[in-house]
Order: sequence, then C-alpha cells, then structure tokens
Amino acid sequence: MAITLNNGFKMPSIGLGVWRMEGKDIRNLIINAIKLGYRHFDCAADYKNEGEVGEALAEAFQTGLVKRDDLFITTKLWNSDHGHVLEACKDSLKKLQLDYLDLYLVHFPIATKHTGVGTTSSALDEDGVLDIDVTISLETTWHSMEDLVSKGLVRSIGISNYDIYLTRDCLAYAKVKPAVNQIETHPYFQRESLVKFCQKHGVCVTAHTPLGGSVANTEWFGSVSCLDDPILKGLGEKYKKSVAQVVLRWGIQRNTIVIPKSSKVERLEENIKISDFELSNEDMDLIKSIDRKARTNQPAVFWGIDLFA
Ligand SMILES: NC(=O)c1ccc[n+]([C@@H]2O[C@H](COP(=O)([O-])OP(=O)(O)OC[C@H]3O[C@@H](n4cnc5c(N)ncnc54)[C@H](OP(=O)(O)O)[C@@H]3O)[C@@H](O)[C@H]2O)c1
Repeated sequence: MAITLNNGFKMPSIGLGVWRMEGKDIRNLIINAIKLGYRHFDCAADYKNEGEVGEALAEAFQTGLVKRDDLFITTKLWNSDHGHVLEACKDSLKKLQLDYLDLYLVHFPIATKHTGVGTTSSALDEDGVLDIDVTISLETTWHSMEDLVSKGLVRSIGISNYDIYLTRDCLAYAKVKPAVNQIETHPYFQRESLVKFCQKHGVCVTAHTPLGGSVANTEWFGSVSCLDDPILKGLGEKYKKSVAQVVLRWGIQRNTIVIPKSSKVERLEENIKISDFELSNEDMDLIKSIDRKARTNQPAVFWGIDLFA
C-alpha cells in the first residue's frame, strides 16, 4: 500500500516512527521491521537517534536485506535550524549514512534561537518563554527547503504541525508545493477539516501519533488513550483484529499515511498486518462519532509556550 505524492514519488502507507526509541534497541527494531515488510521510517534530528538509525540502515544495505531505493526515509528540520537548513540537512544525511532523503519536513512552524546544528535544544529564554527568532519567516525557511530539492539532497519536502492557515500560506508562497503535512491525528483527534483541506490541495497527510500515543502519551501528557475506547474494542472483536489494527486501518482508509511506533517486535508485526481486512462505511462512520477533538501530544509541556493555543 502506498500513496502517490504530488510530485509522482510513492510513499508507503505504513511507516515506523522512531521517536522515543532507545538507541540500544534501534538496530534490532529496524532490522526486524525491514524483515517484516516495513519500507518507510520516520525520523527527526530532534529524536537524537539518527546515528543509530543510520547504522542499522547501513547494515541492512550491506547485508543485502534491502536496497536503498526500496526504502522511504523521512527526517525533519528542527526549530533551531530554520536559518541553517542546508547544514542541518547535511548533518542528518551524514548521521543517517544516506546520500538523499525521500522526505524532509519542517518539524514545527516555529523558528527558535540557533544553538548549533544537531543540538536541537528547546531554547527557553530566561523568562521561561520560548526564544522565538522573529527574523526568520516560514517563507524564508521554505525557500531554503526548496533549494535542497534542486541540489538533489531530498526528493520531497513537506511541513509538519501546520494548521489550515499556515498550510494555505505555504501553498501560496511555495514554488515547490509541500508534498506532505505530518500532523497528529487519530480517532480521538480526527481533524477532518484539516485532513480534507490538505488532501483537496494535493498535500498528503501523514498521521503522527496514529495510535493516540497509547500509554506513552498517557504517562508523558496525561492524555486518554483511544486504544481503551469501548467502541473500538467492539470493532476489534467484530473484525477479529486488535484495537491498534482497527485504528491504523481507519487511518489508511481515510487516505492518510500512518507511522506507529513500537519498541516491541511482536507489535511491529501486528501494526503492519492491516491489509487483509476492510472497515465498512458504517463502521468508518461509527469511528467518526467518537472524536473527542483532543490532542494527546502537548509540546507546551517541554517548551513553555502553547503553540496550538
Ligand atoms: N511531527 C511531529 O511533531 C511528531 C510528533 C509525535 C510523533 N511523531 C512521529 O509519529 C510516530 C508515532 O508517534 P508516537 O510514538 O508518539 O505515538 P503512537 O505511535 O500513536 O503510539 C506509540 C505508543 O503506542 C504503543 N503501541 C505501539 N503499537 C501498539 C499496539 N499494537 N498495541 C498497543 N500499544 C501499542 C507504544 O508502546 P511500545 O513501544 O511499548 O510498543 C507506544 O506507547 C513517532 O515515532 C514519530 O515518528 C511526529
């Protein structure tokens, strides 16, 4: 399963997200994921594990497990590097041991004080407020992203955590249109208007936090996990699938890409086995009815500023 992006490149519909994956576990998880059929990996400079991911990928290529062209690798520009896009991209490429990226995303629509490429600090000011660099517009950042395409360093560029207004603005100033907007969306945070807006304008939506972050986000942010929802549990019983499989299948059927993270090999297998069943229209509508319009991931917890207020 794959979605064709607005520039003709194909993006596998299921990817493995590597945020909060421990460096020591990464080799085993990536190699096993490739063996299980994963061809898409979602990384970021801010996850501070590009080096370990790069080593695992290099091993997979050297041992002939997979060819570079058969993988789709995404990574992201951190907030403090908006004024240093070329260096940041080259730093990620070096750590990932790649000579091109399939997709490079602006991680958040916010530029903070530069603290050195690869440092990805949060840059809280002395007053506890995020030190936003007001001299760099998102348009300037985007044109630097476009230069990466012409240099052959990245195949596609995109945005992440952009709302409708910022996405619309990006479409207006872009010479190279964003191929993807990666946003938090799952049954408890469906964001139908943003998803439909992006899709109507040829911007593919990647659902980050596609399982609602499960227990990880309950622990980190106190959020409620959709995996405990009684209606979704009922659908799991009906289709003889786990709740996670139902949730990911729903994501695929609304034409979004899903990038669940797991540090357990048995769950990697469970999460990719979703092509052998289809949710009925009636059940897709039923899932629509459980939306709580609730974000589970709150960057404000780290940043001292609520980007989404
Ligand atoms: N662009 C952005 O700003 C942004 C923000 C957040 C995330 N992301 C991307 O999205 C990816 C996924 O997000 P996420 O990790 O926050 O949330 P998620 O994938 O929705 O949920 C991960 C949580 O679900 C658990 N889990 C995984 N498979 C499961 C299953 N089959 N049954 C029950 N629990 C399961 C994991 O635990 P175990 O590991 O113990 O299995 C972990 O606690 C990230 O890795 C990252 O690549 C991007």
